[in-house]
Amino acid sequence: MRMILCAAAFLGVLQAAAPSFYKDVLPVLQNHCQECHRKGEIAPMPLVTYEQTRPWAKSIREAVLLKKMPPWFADQANSHFANNRALSQKQIEILTNWADQGAPAGNRADAPAPRAFIDGWRMGQPDQVIEMAQEFHIPATGDVKYQYIPVAMNFTEDKWIEAAEVRPGNRSAVHHILVYVREPGSDFVKGPPPESILETAPPDHSHAPPADSTGILEVGGPAGAAMMTLYVPGGEYLRLEPGQAMLIKKGSDLIFQIHYTTSGQPKVDRSKIGLRFAKQPPASRVVFLGLTNRTMRIAPGAANYLVTCETTLPEAVRLISILPHMHVRGKAFELRAVYPDGRTEVLLNVPRYDFNWQLNYYLDKPRLLPKGTRLENSSWFDNSPNNPQNPNPAVEVFWGEQTWEEMDTAFLSLELPPSLTPEKLVELAAPKVTRSAIPESTNPAQ
Ligand code: HEC
Repeated sequence: MRMILCAAAFLGVLQAAAPSFYKDVLPVLQNHCQECHRKGEIAPMPLVTYEQTRPWAKSIREAVLLKKMPPWFADQANSHFANNRALSQKQIEILTNWADQGAPAGNRADAPAPRAFIDGWRMGQPDQVIEMAQEFHIPATGDVKYQYIPVAMNFTEDKWIEAAEVRPGNRSAVHHILVYVREPGSDFVKGPPPESILETAPPDHSHAPPADSTGILEVGGPAGAAMMTLYVPGGEYLRLEPGQAMLIKKGSDLIFQIHYTTSGQPKVDRSKIGLRFAKQPPASRVVFLGLTNRTMRIAPGAANYLVTCETTLPEAVRLISILPHMHVRGKAFELRAVYPDGRTEVLLNVPRYDFNWQLNYYLDKPRLLPKGTRLENSSWFDNSPNNPQNPNPAVEVFWGEQTWEEMDTAFLSLELPPSLTPEKLVELAAPKVTRSAIPESTNPAQ
């Protein structure tokens, strides 16, 4: 009898502690999941109502326990990011306990107000929307070459941009979009388009890096065109603080570099970008620079190949965000600042890099990097057969923009003092690269 009473009391406690959908689970979904798990966004199913969420209770449990969801890869021990979407231990327990205890609805009256999303634009209403002039037709099969599509802006005066969001026209066909600014006078993407949109030969693995290639702090992408923003699954739109903005010179055009994927059916895409302009010229100019080592040669089969690159800042700048960019052999990433007083700070540590999620990590507030600060970028690659995403472990891998090549780029958004242009910064920074100095090395975070 006493046993039964005890058991009943214990069950009572359990019941009291059982989280309910409306009271406990929904607030977590609203703040950490619905940005992607709602109609029209990238996740395969909405997690907005009880009816939509209930069938997924067990997979939600798995996904949050394994930290597959929400996608966020920065080491939590040293997390200081404004857009941190990781769940706290308590939030993980709410979701797992709810699933374990039959995923009850609870009382609808406990539900928080629905989170308001502006349909289509995460940045809020843009001042101007610019679309590709024509639809692009994606064939049913084959590997489509990266497309470089000019998108005219027709600005007759210089413009300052404080927010930009690029939206694919057809999410099921667009893998990513990088947006470059082509300034007047540049001949980037001015030649005739390639005859075929498809990759004709299997990817050529045999080329070595060009003789003059160096590791560099670079203003941008191909032909010196500066990158403005990008669309990647789970990525952020470009969002700057008041007083910060990006300069788009009059007469510039945008180039959309689009990676289309085929799916067995022909598809059509017309992607676009939304822009918000600063109301007045900002106190400081924001630029997007890449710190990268183009001399990399990743040995065949190497499971933990380290590529490093460093640069010393010739002037004080503020660091706004860090976007580590590697391809399918990317394994781990770290960016450190070594300050003039000798102190070292890990700015971002990604112990488990995942090519499918190209996240931009925004610092909680822009970090002042004084003149003389050394930035050190370490990227680890897995070119072994144990990497399930590796297309070919038998080849040596060089720097290149295609996914079967590799990149080790830390894309940094930096706030420059008015006296400094990005070109001047790059010229003065005198970056130094180490050509695979330590071929096999262990990520300190692992
Ligand atoms: C940045 C966008 C994004 C956020 C935020 C996000 N998800 Fe997802 N989720 C996705 C996408 C895309 C997929 C499908 C592709 C995949 O599984 O990687 C997915 C898949 C899933 C799946 C299916 C996994 C499977 O194994 O099939 C579950 C469950 C899930 N998400 C739960 C959540 C929960 C719970 C949250 C919040 C705590 C969350 N997601 C936050 C984008 C997101």
